[in-house]
Amino acid sequence: FSAFLTDSFGRQHSYLRISLTEKCNLRCQYCMPEEGVPLTPKADLLTTEEILTLARLFVKEGVDKIRLTGGEPLIRPDVVDIVAQLHRLEGLRTIGITTNGINLARLLPQLQKAGLSAINISLDTLVPAKFEFIVRRKGFHKVMEGIHKAIELGYSPVKVNCVVMRGLNEDELLDFVALTEGLPLDVRFIEYMPFDGNKWNFKKMVSYKEMLDTLRQQWPELEKLPEEESSTAKAFKVPGFRGQVSFITSMSEHFCGTCNRLRITADGNLKVCLFGNSEVSLRDHLRAGASEEELLQIIGAAVGRKKRQHAEIKTESQAKWGDRGICSKQNKTT
Ligand code: GTP
Ligand code: 5AD
Ligand code: SF4
Repeated sequence: FSAFLTDSFGRQHSYLRISLTEKCNLRCQYCMPEEGVPLTPKADLLTTEEILTLARLFVKEGVDKIRLTGGEPLIRPDVVDIVAQLHRLEGLRTIGITTNGINLARLLPQLQKAGLSAINISLDTLVPAKFEFIVRRKGFHKVMEGIHKAIELGYSPVKVNCVVMRGLNEDELLDFVALTEGLPLDVRFIEYMPFDGNKWNFKKMVSYKEMLDTLRQQWPELEKLPEEESSTAKAFKVPGFRGQVSFITSMSEHFCGTCNRLRITADGNLKVCLFGNSEVSLRDHLRAGASEEELLQIIGAAVGRKKRQHAEIKTESQAKWGDRGICSKQNKTT
């Protein structure tokens, strides 16, 4: 495996997340302010060509999975073309997308043809009115349509990301589990994470342990599934159900020790950790005509600076590291 993509703790980074845009057609309360986020001028965003140049370089060095994120990746007009071109890269085994699902039903047939292999869809509630409250836009039925289209086209499992917030949707956990009885879904309950301006507070976070207790009261037979390597999620299954449920425990039990991820923001910065702020502009080096070898040196140096883990959160007063939204412009990438 490439020395450039191996950090000082021996973690090999074979998973690259590329943000295609900072824009989003929703305004989820936990992610973005109502008015949206200030956007980077178009000229400063990576072009399709630049995205592919960087992807090619990372794949050559051993990246075998690329996930397209945002903002909302499906609002980038050339998303199908990007998937098709990524699909040609030898060595790339998985091309995933994380989407809010609004445009999914419409675009999925083309995306599948282009080579899209994995889909994660955000959905925090099964109640249409609550959906509108959380995301500050309409579209519940479109998202459901997107989920069903993904199943119909054979994606399995289709992952559903549900950020759990006390007083908002924590009463729906069992309804989400019920969805997995007949559908090949992986419903992933995510611990609510703090970012500037997202109204996070410790009391609103529902921990993995608490969620698991709630599920076990209804389903004592809930069965733990074996851990997948470098996965962010702990998986469970109600015996006999088609799908499964998982927990993403970024807050109560972080998974930095097995982290294999790197990120590129829509404006071309390399981020070695979701929570880190140290970024290096690959775009600027590309545009200055850096050679492959020079780019690799720059990437290798950034990976070499990666910390062992992000600050662990135990109390509200320690919640200071989350200074940028994870999907939104403040963070420029998920
Ligand atoms: P898979 O590739 O299917 O494993 O998806 P994923 O879980 O990596 O990505 P997704 O875009 O679906 O993100 C779901 C949740 O995972 C986010 O809300 C984050 O809470 C969490 N997550 C994703 N990447 C990271 C990461 O690098 N660090 C941490 N701490 N959490 C992450
Ligand atoms: N805490 C936890 N998850 C979040 N996401 C966005 N903001 C937060 C937050 N504050 C989730 C979205 C999406 C995924 C990429 O990140 O729901 O599914
Ligand atoms: Fe958009 Fe996703 Fe952020 Fe919601 S969480 S505002 S869907 S980018």
